[in-house]
Amino acid sequence: MTRRPKRCVAAAALAFILTVAPSRLGRTEGQGSPLFGVTIPTGYRQWELIAPSHEAGFDELRVILGNDVAMRAYRDATLPFPDGTILVKLAWKHVPLAEIAGAFVPGRATTVQIMVKDSRRYVATGGWGFGRFINGEPADEAQHQTCFACHEANARAHDYVFTRFAP
Ligand code: HEC
Repeated sequence: MTRRPKRCVAAAALAFILTVAPSRLGRTEGQGSPLFGVTIPTGYRQWELIAPSHEAGFDELRVILGNDVAMRAYRDATLPFPDGTILVKLAWKHVPLAEIAGAFVPGRATTVQIMVKDSRRYVATGGWGFGRFINGEPADEAQHQTCFACHEANARAHDYVFTRFAP
C-alpha cells in the first residue's frame, strides 16, 4: 500500500521522460529560424563588440557583436568573411534616464538578429544564414524572406554586411 504512490510517481516520471521530454527536445531543435535553421549561439553575449548602430525612426539602441572568426576577419580586413563567422545584432528599447534629461539607457530587449556564414549551406543567399528572434523565439518566415534582399541590395560590396569595425 505505502509503496504504491511511489510507483505512481515513478510511472509518471517515466511517462514524462518518454512523452514530454522528446517533444521538448524536438521543440528546442525546431527553434531555429524558418528558411535558414539558424539558432541563437551559446555564449554570444560574451563576444566582442564590432560597433554600435542607430537607425532614425527606430526607437532603439543597437550593438553588433562578433565571434572570434568574425573579429579576426575584421582585423585582417578579410573579405568575404570566412565560414564560421557569426554576427549578432542586439537591440533594446531606448529609454530616458530618469536622473538626467536627454540621457538614454537600454530598456527591454526587442530583437536578436543573427547572420551565420556557411558558404555551402547558404549558397542562394550569399553564403549567409539569417535568424531573427524575439524573446528567444524565431520570427515568422515572411520576415526571414526580407533579410537577404535588403542586405544584398545595399551591402553587396562588403560581403552583404553593413557594419564596419568601430576602433
Ligand atoms: C530594410 C533593410 C534590412 C532588412 C530587411 C534586414 N536588415 Fe539586417 N541590417 C540592415 C542594416 C542597415 C544594418 C546595419 C546596422 C543597423 O542598422 O542597425 C543591418 C545589420 C544586420 C546585422 C549585423 C551585421 C551587418 O550586416 O551589419 C545582422 C546580423 C542583421 N542585420 C540581420 C538581419 C536579419 C536576420 C534580417 C531578417 C530578419 C535582416 N537583417 C533584415 C538592414 C536590413
